Amino acid sequence: MCGIVGYLGDTEAAPVIFESLKRLEYRGYDSYGFATLKNKEFFIKKGEGKISDASIQNLSRGLPGFMGVGHSRWATHGKVSAENSHPHTDCNGDFLVVHNGIIENYQELRKELKVKGHRFRSDTDTEIIPHLIEEYSELGFEDAVKKAVSRLKGRYAIVTLSRESDKIIGVRRGSPLIVGVKNNVKDSSKGSGKGLSKKRKEYFLASDIPAFLKHTSNVMYLDDEEMVVIDRTGRGIKFYSMENGKEIEKRIVNIGWDPGQAEKNGFEHFMLKEIMEQKDTIRMAINQNMEDIERISKDIKNAFGTFFTGCGTAGNVCLAGEYIFSKVAGKHINFIVSSEFPNYHHFMTDKTLLIAISQSGETADLLEAIEAAKKKHVRIISLVNVMGSSLDRKSDHSFLINAGPEKAVASTKAATSQLALVTLLAYACAGKLDEGRRLLIETASKVNDMINPRYEKHIRGLAEKIHSKENMYIIGRSLNYPMALESAIKIQEVSYIHAQGFAGGELKHGPLALIDKGTPCIALVANDEVKNDIISNAVEIKSRGGYIIGVAPENNEVFDYWIKVPDVGNASPIVNIIPIQILAYHLAILRGHDPDYPKNLAKSVTVK
Ligand code: F6R
Repeated sequence: MCGIVGYLGDTEAAPVIFESLKRLEYRGYDSYGFATLKNKEFFIKKGEGKISDASIQNLSRGLPGFMGVGHSRWATHGKVSAENSHPHTDCNGDFLVVHNGIIENYQELRKELKVKGHRFRSDTDTEIIPHLIEEYSELGFEDAVKKAVSRLKGRYAIVTLSRESDKIIGVRRGSPLIVGVKNNVKDSSKGSGKGLSKKRKEYFLASDIPAFLKHTSNVMYLDDEEMVVIDRTGRGIKFYSMENGKEIEKRIVNIGWDPGQAEKNGFEHFMLKEIMEQKDTIRMAINQNMEDIERISKDIKNAFGTFFTGCGTAGNVCLAGEYIFSKVAGKHINFIVSSEFPNYHHFMTDKTLLIAISQSGETADLLEAIEAAKKKHVRIISLVNVMGSSLDRKSDHSFLINAGPEKAVASTKAATSQLALVTLLAYACAGKLDEGRRLLIETASKVNDMINPRYEKHIRGLAEKIHSKENMYIIGRSLNYPMALESAIKIQEVSYIHAQGFAGGELKHGPLALIDKGTPCIALVANDEVKNDIISNAVEIKSRGGYIIGVAPENNEVFDYWIKVPDVGNASPIVNIIPIQILAYHLAILRGHDPDYPKNLAKSVTVK
């Protein structure tokens, strides 16, 4: 939620910041703002709407300088407006701040600062930060930031500039902030950087790696309660602990992502590109160190209580994991949705194991769950996509799912990668790792065959038939019940059709009353022990007038529209969700919505 960037280097900052921010737009897209610093003067521009709708030429004009910051906003405090968009400044315009997260005690700080004579121009929680820095400015920029931050409660990341200094400072407490470092700048851009050494470094600060991936894949991770100070004069970088003020040594890590992975590469939308990438990502997800898989699966087996936690789509993967472990390994694992975890963990001990699943590794609810679990000395195993994310760093062991950057708000390839890895762990836990690997390799190859233009066209044909409907229902049983819930999320979030998923057996306990003539109902079917039951549920819906869409390995007379999926046994959740992702995408397009930027949502939910 909200994307922040900072840049300090040898090229004009504004175009770099503009490009970086465009790549972070998935984090928030209701307004934006930029600032550069040159000759002790700030140059600031703000606007409402999506940054990608603005013109780089117009925005860059009048923003000179080689260092600056940018912000893409997902409003929390204060309506969407130019005044509320970042950066925010203090009374005299000496300090400016971009911020991601929430300052929980902003109301009391605002009152205090107003009494001291500070004048506020926005309704945001962010604006108190530059005023606090101003309040402590006699300490010097670095110490003023430290002092200001020590007064803040909540989870946040900030990047700040001072008019009088050549430094850019970032602070991380609970929200992501990563430093990108580019070595050996070959040449400075036209008309700029005269006299700069060829070996000087360029620095990028951002909420997520894709922001600067075009420039570098070398990163330095900030941990929570840490501050980074990048100095233009000496082109040096220093990290400090906010707890004891001591300097911290950091390594540069190459994250191994290729810049093309964060681009659309000819696709109109990231969502479709990422759906198509599932041809490869499932195989990449199970490309793990098998000794680690064996070791962790033993831990799962032996733990005195193992739990899954995650949110949204990752939560649905957790629920699927519950079923997969039960069926494949005869192992009971409970799923606790992360936002409820702090209310349901009191019985956990140091013998408990928690498996946390997340694409971003930065979801606030999930991180709170981890904190609550850690207080009980619970061991944390994570399945996460983003290397170096908070979850990755807080876990006792993490498996990276290797899906590459996922930029569309709707999670697609990350979900199937998580499903593949959970399935592999379940097979390992059952002592059948080789069988699990064979199944998943076969599934990856069948997904590769399944996703082709003809298949997409067939699903688009269905979307054309049903896109004007306002309600849809999805049913599944056993391993495919969580996928019915996941189908509903996918359809809701990008097409805004009211969609609900149910366990097939629950229909007669209430939801059947919702079925009218022509109501589209999707039945997720696999060749398993519940196949006949789910078909019976489809028949029940059809006899009340429902329009039955069967996602199944074989056709059935009850289906009005059949979407064929391969028969892959216990990996059926992976293949059954893919056609629904494609359907959701086309429903969004046909209803005139941008599937990459659903209204009211943001990719990485870093607020509670
Ligand atoms: C839905 C979706 C969200 C995320 C949820 C958790 O398509 O993407 O429901 O799954 O916000 O995000 P991560 O996996 O980053 O923790």
